[in-house]
Amino acid sequence: MYTSRITGMGKYVPENVVTNDDLSKLMDTNDAWIQERTGIKERRHIKKDDGNSTAVMGVKAATIALERAKISKDDIDMIVFATLSPDYYFPGCGVQVQEMMEIHTCPAIDVRNQCSGFVYALSVADQFIKTGMYKNVLVIGSENHSGGLDMTTRGRSVSVIFGDGAGAAVLSRSEENGHGVLSTHLHSEGKHALELSLKGPSTMHWVPELIEQNPQEDIPYYPYMNGQFVFKNAVRRFSEVIMQGLEANDLQVSDIDMLVPHQANLRISQFIQKKFQLTDDQVYNNIQKYGNTTAASIPIALCEAWEEGKIKDGDTVVLAAFGSGFTWASAVMKW
Ligand SMILES: CC(C)(COP(=O)(O)OP(=O)(O)OC[C@H]1O[C@@H](n2cnc3c(N)ncnc32)[C@H](O)[C@@H]1OP(=O)(O)O)[C@@H](O)C(=O)NCCC(=O)NCCS
Repeated sequence: MYTSRITGMGKYVPENVVTNDDLSKLMDTNDAWIQERTGIKERRHIKKDDGNSTAVMGVKAATIALERAKISKDDIDMIVFATLSPDYYFPGCGVQVQEMMEIHTCPAIDVRNQCSGFVYALSVADQFIKTGMYKNVLVIGSENHSGGLDMTTRGRSVSVIFGDGAGAAVLSRSEENGHGVLSTHLHSEGKHALELSLKGPSTMHWVPELIEQNPQEDIPYYPYMNGQFVFKNAVRRFSEVIMQGLEANDLQVSDIDMLVPHQANLRISQFIQKKFQLTDDQVYNNIQKYGNTTAASIPIALCEAWEEGKIKDGDTVVLAAFGSGFTWASAVMKW
């Protein structure tokens, strides 16, 4: 049995900063409301002509991760790409990354688990490494939310929350005992699928039909979120899945050196921090700068925490996510 370990990380966010005040020029919202409910001050949005896309941002983050892992693209055995905002219906972003980075023929898997996507993707990669099948897997989370948000007052309760960006990790077979991914736990509960969803355009909801059926009020080709219901489920599932990860490894809450929660909403992270009585040094948040970047949020935050020297060799690092599906997941790692 082998162990997998993150050997390199990278992140990329578009240059274009969109503040809460910028949004208030497009819709009836304001900085005070957004900060009070979500903690978000600004986020990044792709600009139409800046050359970015979900796959392109993934490549930018992945290129840095490869450099830091000190491996060549030829050493990659598999790509796992998590996103809810792919460039195309099909094919997935994984093969686009493969083409753009000129990676040789290898499997490329796209993971569709929204805010839990990166932890799901990490878990997939971990299984392939643990069995001995692969040595180096490129794991990417990337999102282009701004390409599909309703930027009018109608969409304000959703649109102010989300931002664009990408994070990537190289997961490699580890020879060092005790280091690496100790466990991953994945969950989903499909009965709440539509509580946080984008129904169309899709094979069930085709664009001309949608416009005909929904003149103005309820347009299902923008994301829908039952905010308070999502909030309640998020705090419950975050707590459960963190505890599950700790118990599986005989660890206590006090053993956590760094918790990197999915950056859903600063209030959710603060609730978890308080519940587990963690100090500010034990929890990493950057939603204030980037908003909620769904599958990209954990790798961006993890990468940034590491870049800032807040994660050191031997630290116990816990990742936890909750999102559309509902899906939720955790990963416990010895850095
Ligand atoms: C979305 C969320 C911030 C909304 O906060 P809330 O306290 O539930 O607010 P509500 O939806 O009840 O709306 C309260 C009021 O603010 C208004 N409002 C909604 N969005 C607004 C905005 N961007 N600016 C100003 N006012 C807004 C509503 O219309 C409502 O007005 P009313 O009282 O006159 O009807 C909150 O529910 C949340 O964070 N949920 C979880 C979201 C999340 O984490 N999603 C990602 C999961 S991975």
